[in-house]
Amino acid sequence: MFDLIKNIKSYFNNKNVAIVIKTPEQIEGIRKSAQLAAKTLKYIEPFVKPGVKTKELDALIEAFVRENGALPATKGYRGFKHASCISPNDVVCHGVPNDTVLNAGDIVNIDVTTILNGYFGDTCKMYYVGEPSDYAKKLVETTKECLKLGMQECKPGANLGNVGAAIAEHAHKNGYSVVFEFCGHGVGLKFHEEPDVQHIAERGTGPILKPGMVFTIEPMINAGKARCKIDRKDGWTARTIDSRLSAQFEHTVLITENGYEALTDVYGDF
Ligand code: MF3
Ligand code: CO
Ligand code: CO
Repeated sequence: MFDLIKNIKSYFNNKNVAIVIKTPEQIEGIRKSAQLAAKTLKYIEPFVKPGVKTKELDALIEAFVRENGALPATKGYRGFKHASCISPNDVVCHGVPNDTVLNAGDIVNIDVTTILNGYFGDTCKMYYVGEPSDYAKKLVETTKECLKLGMQECKPGANLGNVGAAIAEHAHKNGYSVVFEFCGHGVGLKFHEEPDVQHIAERGTGPILKPGMVFTIEPMINAGKARCKIDRKDGWTARTIDSRLSAQFEHTVLITENGYEALTDVYGDF
């Protein structure tokens, strides 16, 4: 297993990547889309209550995104049919909205990507359905801290690998594992651009960050083992291999002249 992780890391870190530097005009467009994606996560919050079906939340999200003049990027993306990914409990990511009912005590991730005037913004956060256990809360809070620590590594001249190093360090210190089968990505002019953003990496490796780069950081942190399995029926929903809890937060991040800007942060937490 360790060798597998090592090989995956060196593959990504040695890849010759062409990372688009966005123009000020493109950045303004991406910022607007990112803000709408983030506002959508805020809009849906009061509906995330015991008894709601994940497909009902998805329908509300789709209506909100369209009313605001945007398109949901996930709808029709590689055969995905929904406006959001909704991933409860042991679902790591890409949860397909369906008849699943959310229950009190669940934790759930909602991930929204908008296309506004051709620009992409991508963000996700965790919600508590009723009151979660202390155990679940600690995983969620630690995952949010992982994202923040990863973001704080972002500045011109730094290696992208520092982001994954900071995330993994914090997750491991708390006894959690870091998902390595899915990663963050460049974003803005397309849904998924270069570079791949690893959430477990080594300091001093990976591309050098420059002002005008825009990418997501979206760590998935597991209470148990790091590995995932894909639902055989829907082909998308990724669950933890040991059925233990998983949490994720995602921001679209712009590299600025002296650091970073979280384009999807409407909560003011980051
Ligand atoms: N929004 C997800 C991400 O953060 C991607 C979802 S792709 C889908 O990259 F097809 F599953 F919707
Ligand atoms: Co993303
Ligand atoms: Co996303």
